[in-house]
Amino acid sequence: MKYASIAWTSVFVAGAAGALTFGAIAHSLRPDVEITAHPKAQVIKVAASAPAPSKPAPKAEFTPSDRPIPDDDFGKVVAEGQRIFNDPAKYAKAYVGNELRCASCHLDQGRKAGSAPMWAAYLSYPAYRAKNHHVNTFAERLQGCFRYSMNGKAPPLGDPVLVALESYSYWMAQGAPLDPGIAGRGYTKLAKPAQTPDYHRGEAVYQARCALCHGANGSGERARNGAPAFPALWGDASFNWGAGMGSIKNAAAFIKGNMPLGQGGTLSDQDAWDVAMFIDSHDRPQDPRFTQSVEETRKLFHDSSESMYGQSVNGAVLGSRSTPNGGTLRAGGKL
Ligand code: HEC
Ligand code: HEC
Repeated sequence: MKYASIAWTSVFVAGAAGALTFGAIAHSLRPDVEITAHPKAQVIKVAASAPAPSKPAPKAEFTPSDRPIPDDDFGKVVAEGQRIFNDPAKYAKAYVGNELRCASCHLDQGRKAGSAPMWAAYLSYPAYRAKNHHVNTFAERLQGCFRYSMNGKAPPLGDPVLVALESYSYWMAQGAPLDPGIAGRGYTKLAKPAQTPDYHRGEAVYQARCALCHGANGSGERARNGAPAFPALWGDASFNWGAGMGSIKNAAAFIKGNMPLGQGGTLSDQDAWDVAMFIDSHDRPQDPRFTQSVEETRKLFHDSSESMYGQSVNGAVLGSRSTPNGGTLRAGGKL
């Protein structure tokens, strides 16, 4: 590791002249470190963001290039993948059961670091998943989001929809190191809350900060022309009980980083946990793995404090009155 060879204490005592030299060294080692004009500022800035000598270096940040999608045979499929990602109800209609977009949860068209970006996902598979106890390819991981988050059904392997999404993700990942631990993968984790997440506190946060866009009853809001503008957070139009966002931990992390939209990071950690718990304490379409027994389904797939499935809230057991999964697919596209 390169930094280890630098004597950190001497950097601080070196004074302005030494700092300049150090700034130059630091810059050549880490071109990502911002070097400002004031020599003392250099020392402080570099030292503050640098690791202690014995610790491993932080993972490099990767930002997918915003170059235009090429206008060739490959680019056409990449562009189709991008369209599907932004509007699956239109471009992958046969496989979705709600009107959420992949981009509803993977923000900035799947580019945003810390919001489960597709470039980081692409280079993290094949991988073993405890959710289904085997090694999943990237295509199989994509299938999962159709089945659960989109409350639909998995496109078969090799289907043009999957090929397009894979191509789009691959195109974004070009230039990134092949490292499933890459910075920015998944949702930026939140520390455990100081207090156990609470429904009533969550409800107060929801009414104050979220209802405006997602509706008082969580079913989202439509634009004047009928197009969904703000996605549903619970109810029949939302993701089903098997989805990743149904885990309070995932939802809290997503919410802290991204919500209210455009004001990510403004909720306290506790508020994010509380409102995540509130949202995930409402009924939604049934888990596709339902065994006909809520109790058994909880035991098999939801047996943790992160899931409210099978728990009693306001006098009803969540999951016991869920509509069957499949949404618009189940209703022949007429829901
Ligand atoms: C309701 C929110 C939501 C929607 C809609 C959604 N996802 Fe996801 N997605 C998640 C969550 C939450 C995770 C993380 C799950 C976990 O860690 O268990 C995830 C994970 C993923 C991953 C794996 C990420 C990684 O780094 O391993 C991929 C790939 C993915 N989603 C693709 C898609 C695609 C493609 C669509 C649209 C067809 C989609 N998602 C729609 C919430 C959503
Ligand atoms: C200004 C409007 C606005 C506000 C306020 C807002 N959201 Fe959102 N929210 C959105 C939009 C729009 C999306 C989808 C992102 C996209 O399509 O780009 C979204 C997506 C989501 C999603 C993932 C998609 C889904 O349907 O499950 C969750 C969860 C969520 N918001 C929770 C919250 C919570 C909790 C709050 C309050 C703390 C909140 N939002 C406040 C507009 C808003």
